[in-house]
Amino acid sequence: MPVTVTVCVGSSCHVRGSRAVLKRFAEVLQAEGLSEDVALVGSFCLERCSEGVNWKFNEENFSSATVDDAEKTLREKLLEAKERDRTTAEELA
Ligand code: FES
Repeated sequence: MPVTVTVCVGSSCHVRGSRAVLKRFAEVLQAEGLSEDVALVGSFCLERCSEGVNWKFNEENFSSATVDDAEKTLREKLLEAKERDRTTAEELA
């Protein structure tokens, strides 16, 4: 599951709470044992400043209004990625 989660830490997203989102994402990855599989990185402005705290799961863009919303979306995407990995492994077996 090579995944990169990128959280914007530009000024607009910072004001909206991107630091708290980064912290929560790190906690989720740690709790789920995924710290080695998922690269969590910060980014300068993703040029979607008006949309909320902006972040990406690989190349898919998300905007979250709250830390809890961001966590919910992250968990959904992680589940999808795990499911995709499992399906691929079954197809290769
Ligand atoms: S500061 Fe985050 S998208 Fe611009």
